[in-house]
Amino acid sequence: MSDVRIEQATHLPDDAVSAVRALAARAADADGIDAVSEAFRLALTSPRASVTHLLAYAGRPGPVGYAGRDAAGAAELVVDPSARRAGVGRALLRAVLDGGATGVWAHGDLPAARALAASEGLVPTRELHVMERAVRDGDEVEPTLPEGFSVRTFEPGRDEQAWLDVNRLAFASHPEQGSLTLADLQDRMAQDWFDPSGFLLVEDTTTTQDGGAHPLAAFHWTKREPGSTTGEVYVVGVHPAYQGRALAGPLTGLGTAHLARLGVERIELYVDGDNTRALATYRRAGFEDAVLHVVHGRPPAP
Ligand SMILES: CC(C)(COP(=O)(O)OP(=O)(O)OC[C@H]1O[C@@H](n2cnc3c(N)ncnc32)[C@H](O)[C@@H]1OP(=O)(O)O)[C@@H](O)C(=O)NCCC(=O)NCCS
Repeated sequence: MSDVRIEQATHLPDDAVSAVRALAARAADADGIDAVSEAFRLALTSPRASVTHLLAYAGRPGPVGYAGRDAAGAAELVVDPSARRAGVGRALLRAVLDGGATGVWAHGDLPAARALAASEGLVPTRELHVMERAVRDGDEVEPTLPEGFSVRTFEPGRDEQAWLDVNRLAFASHPEQGSLTLADLQDRMAQDWFDPSGFLLVEDTTTTQDGGAHPLAAFHWTKREPGSTTGEVYVVGVHPAYQGRALAGPLTGLGTAHLARLGVERIELYVDGDNTRALATYRRAGFEDAVLHVVHGRPPAP
């Protein structure tokens, strides 16, 4: 293949967005997994997203590879299956690292990604587990919360700020989730899968705040793409002041009960490899490892 040329942009014209989506779809077919995650997919068209898009061209019309790099230093890259082993992946990887990327996602931990990353001197710096399980008889029964807590559904227009506050505190050590803004939340609320009846808020009913509302102690946001037979434990968080009070188990069960009542057949979730308490909660709830996503980055300085 002739030389690889890389073009960078923060906004993509419609035809480039279509070409990247088509390329990513061909790669997902070939690899059995999406290389471009939801956040980067949304960033292809969101004017608010601070993502730099890199399109690789190599001697034929249209891009043969795509990489995205966000302001926090995370990057994703994918090469068209018909253009692989010709240096496109290496060129994109070097370009995102030169541009300041500190970690590159390898969704599904595919052998080609592992080999490419290692050949550039990168090492795994983070592991994200996808866990799943089948829905079983009895899942639809709502668990009982500990004394002093009650559950209600998220109310758009009322609960955004309280949720953002608890999300930020619960995920203080989790770079992507903890830094979600009102605009990020509204982007997700505008998606066709968003359903407030599957966004469950647990409140501390033993006390009230200014204005008379009960404080938000924890939440379980579930997700189901329209028509899908798989549901997702999308985000579960417990306010630090309410951690250690036996909420995690029933909180997980509230969401799985909601998904079971929707009629899904399987439930999946994503959890960081270093989040041992969450991993243990989900294993206890019957979830098993299904896929591993790995971030590759520069080895820590000695
Ligand atoms: C990983 C991926 C980006 C590689 O793209 P590519 O254009 O084929 O990669 P390159 O041609 O630049 O390969 C560079 C080096 O990576 C390694 N490599 C790439 N594919 C490989 C494979 N299938 N098996 C073994 N080694 C491989 C080799 O060391 C290769 O050098 P070589 O060809 O001189 O031996 C591509 O397979 C892809 O899009 N996969 C799905 C998305 C993904 O996993 N992205 C994460 C990237 S970290």
